[in-house]
Amino acid sequence: MVRLGLMVLLGLLFVGCSNQPATVIVNGTTFDTEQVTQGQQLYAQYCASCHGANGEGQFPTAPNERDATGRLGAPPHNGNGHTWHHGDTLLVEYVRNGGVSLTDPANWYPMPAFGEQLNDEQIMLTLAYIKTFWSDEQRTRQMQVTAAEGSR
Ligand code: HEC
Repeated sequence: MVRLGLMVLLGLLFVGCSNQPATVIVNGTTFDTEQVTQGQQLYAQYCASCHGANGEGQFPTAPNERDATGRLGAPPHNGNGHTWHHGDTLLVEYVRNGGVSLTDPANWYPMPAFGEQLNDEQIMLTLAYIKTFWSDEQRTRQMQVTAAEGSR
């Protein structure tokens, strides 16, 4: 009986943890669940090999440590990472133009520029999917950063 109670409780916790939002906003555009699914497919195709299928990063157990080559890997995009500290304009430009690694390859694994392969709409779709990794609070905070970015 106690065990059953525990299983029900765990089940409820699991449901409580799923924070998949109904819509996601990127750069002022609202994406619905179907579009977020397209974003998931693009993410799986273009981003997951480095950043992990669920945004866990290239080295999930030690995301901020250099490996034997002396380089830092692709950071997590989930709530453990810092992607949500950046506003949408910066994020779109980052994916379009590539990362610091392009000028500092000794310290970083490469973050390619996707501007040739993905248009801005597709980049925003991948970001919409990334936003589903975050908590409600992280999404709200990131919207505030995005708003402040726009008024610069
Ligand atoms: C070949 C590996 C690789 C692929 C593929 C890749 N990335 Fe990255 N990404 C990295 C690395 C390594 C960094 C950190 C170095 C840097 O910033 O240049 C990074 C950094 C980033 C950052 C900035 C850091 C942050 O979390 O704010 C963003 C945003 C990002 N990637 C998004 C994407 C998206 C979206 C895709 C798919 C369209 C993608 N990346 C595909 C390797 C990759």
